[in-house]
Amino acid sequence: HPTPQHFTSPGRTGYNLTADWPGGDTGQVVMAGSHLDSVTSGAGINDNGSGSAAVLETALAVARSGYQPTKHLRFAWWGAEELGLVGAKYYVNNLSSANRPRISGYLNFDMIGSPHPGYFVYHDDPAIEKTFKDYYAGLGIPTEIETEGDGRSDHAPFKNAGVPVGGLFSGADYTKTSAQAAKWGGTAGQAFDRCYHSSCDTTANINDTALDRNSDAIAY
Ligand code: TRP
Ligand code: ZN
Repeated sequence: HPTPQHFTSPGRTGYNLTADWPGGDTGQVVMAGSHLDSVTSGAGINDNGSGSAAVLETALAVARSGYQPTKHLRFAWWGAEELGLVGAKYYVNNLSSANRPRISGYLNFDMIGSPHPGYFVYHDDPAIEKTFKDYYAGLGIPTEIETEGDGRSDHAPFKNAGVPVGGLFSGADYTKTSAQAAKWGGTAGQAFDRCYHSSCDTTANINDTALDRNSDAIAY
């Protein structure tokens, strides 16, 4: 059930899209979301075609398998994140007071296929954080807490409204330390994503392994 939502951010129309998977307890809604826009100067593939494709593939996998989870699933693609989380703020502000407490978790995926990846887990809700850490522990891959992005992506308006949030991130313009290169491979002193917000953020700017692992983590 895809539902478009349009909003106006000073003078311009933007769009969110949500899609509910029928079934499950609508008193316990689990959301997975990503932003679909890019910056004007960027080609927008790692930021954030990566998260958007992973959420879409998860939704398609749910549909293909006829999955019948206990909770109700909602997938979301946000507009105008790069203009200040405009779409996600609009969505949260327009939830009714009855519907807001029904959201038991919001999971955010913004930059999850970085070409020189790290494996960062948002440190917000402990249960959601543990779920992602458990997934990565099962792969034998160490993770770190995501620290640079607090409030920098679409989970922020949900968190501010009291919704438990979590998410994954594979790195932007910060450089990999030697300790991180030792645990994840790659080159100390080189950025996780040298093409962050640049015209070279094309389909060549994706590490398929990172995108695949993070996509599986969404499903997990
Ligand atoms: N779209 C975000 C931005 O441009 C991407 C981002 C950069 C991010 N650093 C982050 C997302 C850290 C989460 C955490 O700001
Ligand atoms: Zn960005």
